Amino acid sequence: MSAPIHAAIVGTGHYAPARVLTNADLEKMVDTTDEWIRTRTGIRERRIAADNEFTSDMGTAASRMALEQARLAPEDVEAIYVATCTPDMFFPSTACLIQATLGAKRAYGFDISSACAGFLMALDAAGAAVESGRIRNALVIGSEKLSAVTDWTSRNTCVLFGDGAGAAVLKASDRPGIRSSLLGVDGNLAEFLSIPAGGCRQPTSEETVRQRLHYMHMAGRETFKIAVNTMLGAAQEAIARAGLTVADVDVMVPHQANLRIVEAVAKRLGEGVMERVFLNLDRYGNTSAASIPIALSEAVAAGKIRSGNKVLMVAFGGGLSWGGTVVEWL
Ligand code: ACO
Repeated sequence: MSAPIHAAIVGTGHYAPARVLTNADLEKMVDTTDEWIRTRTGIRERRIAADNEFTSDMGTAASRMALEQARLAPEDVEAIYVATCTPDMFFPSTACLIQATLGAKRAYGFDISSACAGFLMALDAAGAAVESGRIRNALVIGSEKLSAVTDWTSRNTCVLFGDGAGAAVLKASDRPGIRSSLLGVDGNLAEFLSIPAGGCRQPTSEETVRQRLHYMHMAGRETFKIAVNTMLGAAQEAIARAGLTVADVDVMVPHQANLRIVEAVAKRLGEGVMERVFLNLDRYGNTSAASIPIALSEAVAAGKIRSGNKVLMVAFGGGLSWGGTVVEWL
């Protein structure tokens, strides 16, 4: 019998748009305060893409950095998985647009829509394809231009979100890479987080525009509690499936939605876990599917994730959907 093929992360990259929108800027736009935003969410500022800068552009930039780190040329890429809930358009997929701008001539690709849990969904699917031997590598991208679907008149949501992209290169390896992956959805709670119109259920009309139904709508308070419990369960199950204990986790990279959610999950996971959490939500806010890969890339660049480390990623978002993934770093 041949040795099992593992899917290892061999490169990471990220891209953040240049424009910074601070809490002080938001104070001038809606009825909010820097103090409220910081104490309720931990967010200080977020990045906003330029008018002519799109999800595919940011995904391409993050991919270039990840490919360079992986020492792979665009022509070597076999598959492109893009997690996004803000694609450039319904179709063609963002993956096709990135394939073209990268010059990844041999790659197939498609988008995965799972809001903030999207990157872990994409990593799982791409990892399974690599482990099966069907492909030898894959580019996994999370990219979002949430500012395009943010209601800038609603203080309930506009203080939370930002734009950006992150990417990871997966490659077949004889040493463990992805050690476990636990995914879940509950469509019964779909209305908690959504962009209600623009699809076939409520096609774009003057009425849907007037009612601001093309923007993100969120039941924040209701989502908060479920987020904590679900992320905790996903983290514990992913750690157990990897044959590890919480003590074995070197670095935790959570979805960066809200500091209070992260702290609550870390505290319930065990003593000292919070010290192992990588955070950047103060600088980016919630970038949905881009959140984990941006943090992963920054953690690698900062030397916080090193060879042999066991890295726990955990996410929660619209769907509702969630995921927990443990990766052993090459
Ligand atoms: N500035 C000032 N006051 C505000 C603001 C603001 N920006 N936003 C809300 N408030 C007010 C509310 O109106 C409310 O006032 P009231 O008591 O008079 O009604 C008060 O502040 C408290 O509001 P809550 O909603 O209870 O505040 P909470 O502490 O729950 O924080 C938050 C809100 C930050 C949204 C939090 O609930 C949260 O993070 N929820 C989870 C979000 C999440 O994880 N989403 C999943 C991922 S997103 C995705 O998938 C796309």
